[in-house]
Amino acid sequence: MQLNDKRVVLTGASGGIGEAIVSALADQGAQLVITGRNQQKLAQIAHAVKEMGGVCDVVVADLGTAEGILNVQQAVHALGHIDLLINNAGISEFEAFDMQSDDAIERLLHINLISPMKLTKRLLPYLKATECGLIVNIGSTFGSIGYPGFSSYCASKFGLRGFNEALSRELADTNVDVCYIAPRATQTAINSRQVVEMNDALGVKADSAAWVAEQVVRAVQKGSHRVYLGWPEKFFVRMNALFPGVVANSIIKQLPIIRRYLAIAPGVGFKNTQHIVD
Ligand SMILES: NC(=O)c1ccc[n+]([C@@H]2O[C@H](COP(=O)([O-])OP(=O)(O)OC[C@H]3O[C@@H](n4cnc5c(N)ncnc54)[C@H](OP(=O)(O)O)[C@@H]3O)[C@@H](O)[C@H]2O)c1
Repeated sequence: MQLNDKRVVLTGASGGIGEAIVSALADQGAQLVITGRNQQKLAQIAHAVKEMGGVCDVVVADLGTAEGILNVQQAVHALGHIDLLINNAGISEFEAFDMQSDDAIERLLHINLISPMKLTKRLLPYLKATECGLIVNIGSTFGSIGYPGFSSYCASKFGLRGFNEALSRELADTNVDVCYIAPRATQTAINSRQVVEMNDALGVKADSAAWVAEQVVRAVQKGSHRVYLGWPEKFFVRMNALFPGVVANSIIKQLPIIRRYLAIAPGVGFKNTQHIVD
């Protein structure tokens, strides 16, 4: 898809990857509708796009609510059609599963899986109303590899990948294409201090949001259907599909380090950490 003058709805535009995607899309001449909850941040981002001569409308919306999804739909209805929907909004939580609250589990599944599904359903008619529509779902390496401390996040992103795959097959005989893009660790505020320090301790590389955004734009332009970012992560995704036991063994070897950081994850506080940290 060539992006010049294409109408794009982007969720999570106020976040690290989202803001970088806004900038990359605006550079290509796309007309943007950006959403998130942080009104001030969204207004700043839209102002910057308009200063450069671009088009950028803001819809402040909590996608965890029916009202938020309706707000986005109403803004799109006023436009008549859109060409591209990027489901990028997401949350993460690094915590031992048995310490995670029921609320946190529900919130993760809701924002990362249910909300993009509901928004996609609401906006599909407007994607079908254009010549060639495209839905991009921003997943994660953890949508293919189950990782300790991220059970609920992994469940949500595995779910998103399954939704993406089924929908892409269901829409194969329509004008709407579907694409799944899975970043690996990226330098944004979604990762808590514990996660950043754990990644450093494990030698896990983190990409810049600007680089991830470039890959998203490239995938859209090339008409890609599945993109896994980063090496060796994309290799491990394939390995995990074919030989999950091999990947499990290598992750289980990391458990002592992971447990050290889990012990100081936000939901746990510092209780019971002494014997684990030492
Ligand atoms: N950074 C990574 O390491 C990494 C790796 C793989 C995949 N990803 C995925 O990349 C996507 C973007 O993440 P990021 O790294 O840019 O994180 P981020 O900086 O924390 O941004 C998250 C975005 O999601 C929005 N959001 C969260 N809850 C929302 C809600 N209830 N309603 C509406 N919007 C909501 C936030 O907007 P407001 O705060 O304004 O509501 C924000 O714009 C996510 O889907 C994430 O899972 C990230």
